[in-house]
Amino acid sequence: MSTLALHGGNPVRTKPFPRWPVFSRADVRAVARVIESGLWGRTTGKVVAKFEEAFAKFQGARHGLAVVNGTTGLRLALIAAGIREGDEVIVPPYTFLASATAVVESNAVPVFVDIDPETYNLDPRLIEAAITPRTRAIMPVHFAGRACDMERILAIARKHNLKVIEDACHGWGGRWKDKGLGCIGDLGVFSFQSSKNLTAGEGGFITTQDADLLETVVSLHNCGRLRPRPGASVAASAWYEHHLLGGNHRMTEMQGALLLSQLKRLPKQIATREANARYLDRELAKIPGIRPMRRDAFVTRDSCHLYLFRYDPAGFAGKPRERFIAAMQAEGIPVSPGYPLPLYKQPVFLQKQFGPYTGWTHSRPDLDYGKVRCPACEKACASEGLWLSQSLLLGSRRDMEDVVEAVAKVQRHATKM
Ligand SMILES: Cc1ncc(COP(=O)(O)O)c(C=O)c1O
Repeated sequence: MSTLALHGGNPVRTKPFPRWPVFSRADVRAVARVIESGLWGRTTGKVVAKFEEAFAKFQGARHGLAVVNGTTGLRLALIAAGIREGDEVIVPPYTFLASATAVVESNAVPVFVDIDPETYNLDPRLIEAAITPRTRAIMPVHFAGRACDMERILAIARKHNLKVIEDACHGWGGRWKDKGLGCIGDLGVFSFQSSKNLTAGEGGFITTQDADLLETVVSLHNCGRLRPRPGASVAASAWYEHHLLGGNHRMTEMQGALLLSQLKRLPKQIATREANARYLDRELAKIPGIRPMRRDAFVTRDSCHLYLFRYDPAGFAGKPRERFIAAMQAEGIPVSPGYPLPLYKQPVFLQKQFGPYTGWTHSRPDLDYGKVRCPACEKACASEGLWLSQSLLLGSRRDMEDVVEAVAKVQRHATKM
C-alpha cells in the first residue's frame, strides 16, 4: 500500500461499488401488471395518479403532478407561477443546464447569482443585489439534495414580492426544518432521470400547496385541457377543448408503476446514504487539503444525491485537482470533478443561442453572459469541487473506509502524485 496505484502500487480497492439502478422482481411485476392491463397511458390507467398521491404524501406536499421530466416540470412551474416574456428569474450557476434553460424556454431571463462556497447552494447574501424591477422569481436549487437557506430566501421573496420555485430535482425525501423540499416555496420540481435516487429512467414531478397552481400545471401538462372538478360530469367534448397553451407532458403508467415500486425502498436508502455521508464528513475533515461541505442545522434530512467535498492543493503539495482525481481513480475510487463550467460560461449562454426564445433579447442588449462573474462557482468548477455518486453512498461502512483510506493514502504521497 505504500506506492500509489498510479505508479504501480496496489490499489486500495478493486471491488466495484453498488450499481445503479437497484431493482427487484417486485419492480418487474409492477411494470408487467400495467403492460398486461393494456392501460398504458395515464388518461386510461390509475397508477400514475396513485404514484402522485404517494410521492406528494412522502414529500409532504398538498398536491403533486407527475410529468415527463424535471426540465419540463421547471418550465411548467415557471409558466404557472406567472413568469412572462422578459421577466428575470434568479438562478444559481452551479447546477445542471436545465435549471437555467427552463427559464429561457419560459421566455424569461436567467440572472445568475453566485453560490455559497461552503455549501455550493445559492448564496442568499448576494440575492438582493441582483434584484431589478424586472425580477419576478427566485429559483433556488437544493443542490445534491441539501436544502438551501430557505428562511432567508423566503424573506427576500416576500420583501420583493417574488415567486419561489424550488428546483428540488435532487431532493426526494430531503428536508428543511423538517419540511419536505419542494413544499416550501410556491412550486417545487423533481427529476426521476436515470441517475436520480428515485428513477424510472425518465420522469418528473411538480409539487405545490396551492390548488389553483395545481390546476394550472395539470392543464399545461395535458394540452391545456381543464380537469373536471370532483363530482362534475365530464362533457364528451372536453377531450378536444383546450384552454391554455399546454402540451402533452404526461407520464406513462409503466413509469408510474416503476416509481411507485421504487419509492418503497427510498426511505431505507436515504438512511444508508445519510449515515455514510456523515461518516465521510467526519473522517475526510481530518485529512489535510480536504474540506467537506457545511451542513447547516436547517438541513434536517439530506437526500444525498451526490457527496460533495472540496479539494485544496495546499494540502496536496500544490498538485492540481486533476492529479488527485487520477490518483483516486487508480486507487479504485470513482471521484468526479463535477461541472466543468458555471452555466453562464456555457456556449448556449455566451452566444445566447436561445432558438425561438429571443423576443426579450432584443430589448436587452445590455445582457452579456460573458460579463457575469461568480467567483465561488468558478472556483468550484475549475479547481475545488469533487463529487462521489449517490450509488457509492449505498455501500457498507467498509466501503466508506476504503474511500477515506484512499484519500489519506493519496494525501500522504501527494509529492509523488
Ligand atoms: C438540478 C437539476 N435540475 C433539473 C434537472 C432536469 O431534470 P430532467 O433530466 O429530469 O429533465 C436536473 C437533471 O439532471 C438537475 O440535476
